[in-house]
Amino acid sequence: MGDELMQQGQARVAVIGAGPSGLYAAAALLASGEPVSVEVLDRLPAPYGLVRYGVAPDHVKMKSVIRVLQKPFDPAHVEFLGGVRVGEGGIPLDVVRRHFHAVVHATGSSVDRHLGVPGEDLAGSLGSGAFVSWYCGHPDRVELQPVLDRPGVAVVGAGNVALDVARVLAKTADEMAETDVPEPVLHALRGSAVRDVHVLIRRGPQHVRFTPAELRQIGELHNADVVVHDDGLLAEGVEEPEDRRQRQNLDMLREWAARETTGKPRRIHLRFLRSPVRLVGADGRVSAVVVERNKIDADGRVVATGEEETFDAGLVVRAIGYDGEPIEGLPFDARTGTVPNDGGRVMRDGVPVPGAYVTGWIKRGPTGVIGTNKADASETVEALLADLPGLPTPAHPEPEAFRAALASYGMRPVDWTGWLRLDAEEVRRGGLRGAERVKVADLADMLEAAHGARTS
Ligand SMILES: Cc1cc2nc3c(=O)[nH]c(=O)nc-3n(C[C@H](O)[C@H](O)[C@H](O)COP(=O)(O)OP(=O)(O)OC[C@H]3O[C@@H](n4cnc5c(N)ncnc54)[C@H](O)[C@@H]3O)c2cc1C
Ligand SMILES: NC(=O)c1ccc[n+]([C@@H]2O[C@H](COP(=O)([O-])OP(=O)(O)OC[C@H]3O[C@@H](n4cnc5c(N)ncnc54)[C@H](OP(=O)(O)O)[C@@H]3O)[C@@H](O)[C@H]2O)c1
Repeated sequence: MGDELMQQGQARVAVIGAGPSGLYAAAALLASGEPVSVEVLDRLPAPYGLVRYGVAPDHVKMKSVIRVLQKPFDPAHVEFLGGVRVGEGGIPLDVVRRHFHAVVHATGSSVDRHLGVPGEDLAGSLGSGAFVSWYCGHPDRVELQPVLDRPGVAVVGAGNVALDVARVLAKTADEMAETDVPEPVLHALRGSAVRDVHVLIRRGPQHVRFTPAELRQIGELHNADVVVHDDGLLAEGVEEPEDRRQRQNLDMLREWAARETTGKPRRIHLRFLRSPVRLVGADGRVSAVVVERNKIDADGRVVATGEEETFDAGLVVRAIGYDGEPIEGLPFDARTGTVPNDGGRVMRDGVPVPGAYVTGWIKRGPTGVIGTNKADASETVEALLADLPGLPTPAHPEPEAFRAALASYGMRPVDWTGWLRLDAEEVRRGGLRGAERVKVADLADMLEAAHGARTS
């Protein structure tokens, strides 16, 4: 097999998913100097995954990582095939496999986890994946239009995503107008009646998973005060965490707990030791969240007290993590929401699946910042390159054959030039609003901008 590969000159690798992990993998493949040609497929016409559809719109500096991620495409070393979904509703994985020596799965974790409490399915109860996708202009969530007509909102979770959601809801629409949020999102934020954002945290202040830089930002908002509700825990004294970042968080929370609010129009309430137990509805939509108070026992464990409290909330956003989406033909562990793997090699029943690799959140679960995916992708690419000489030659290795297969599934991919057209359209729209860019969120509009003509 190795000989065949040598004769052909190049091994064809498909990377499925143009988020950070897929693009770091593409860059690592290129940097290896090995004879590989790389094609990056994404179900959306735009690259960058959660950098575009997760990173908060007001985190502009963070988004500049795009300059690094785009490098493999820029001198056209790697091909981008946008608008190509692999699996259900797209091109089946076993068809893709017939065209490539190796496939790197980098599809992330996009499925919102559930609390498993009554009332969770009421209108106005959303996962952070859905809510964030809406304000980031993801084409899947254009129709979501959450109603922001009540003063109370609840956000469940103590991670950075919970902070993003709370901050976006607490900022003024004028502040958000400087970002890339689509016009309908800005319109909804302008009409927002939100005054009190209750962040519901099941453990104590010493346990939060926020990063200090992100936590600090909510203490510096023009339009919102932070109110710390810790049931006196901070004053009593909590065990000092070993982790430096947790200690920094704790210092910040202590300072905020001791200070007076300044009468800003909105408030972010950090409510510790509270777990949602049910969502209450009125007129078919959520109107309140009932929480049970917890305490920390002598062994440091969080235990429920049975005491309940109710907060009015017209919107409840769970920021409690994500699962990956299974793809037919690819092993999937439903317990962890990831693809079983050994250092990036996809495993079925404890045995590597030839030519199948995995990287990023779908490999290790939904944790880690953008940069974490670089080392993760390197590990996967190392495994792939080590296996390369022994990988079987695919049935149809010619690039034209894959294009024909895509066409037979009704797909007309958006190439890198097409993405640059869409990019330019967003920058043009931004200019009209005084922002760097304004997202095009509607899929038909995205394709029209990318292809230069309406296609649906
Ligand atoms: C709300 C939110 C905010 C975040 N903010 C920050 C931040 O400010 N700073 C930071 O460092 N980290 C942040 N992170 C973490 C960071 O975004 C992740 O570490 C990173 O995006 C994971 O990369 P990935 O490539 O594994 O997944 P993703 O970024 O999710 O990329 C997966 C890609 O696969 C594509 N795809 C999915 N299924 C298919 C399919 N079937 N066929 C084809 N394509 C498919 C998707 O369209 C997507 O482009 C944030 C995460 C979230 C959820
Ligand atoms: N600016 C940034 O750098 C940035 C921004 C956004 C995201 N990210 C990164 O992206 C990753 C994902 O972020 P994330 O916020 O989704 O995840 P996360 O950091 O894992 O936080 C998830 C939170 O949900 C809580 N939780 C889970 N199940 C719960 C339940 N049933 N009831 C109540 N609370 C529950 C967890 O509480 P416990 O702690 O008690 O388990 C935890 O506080 C993280 O690595 C994050 O740092 C980075």
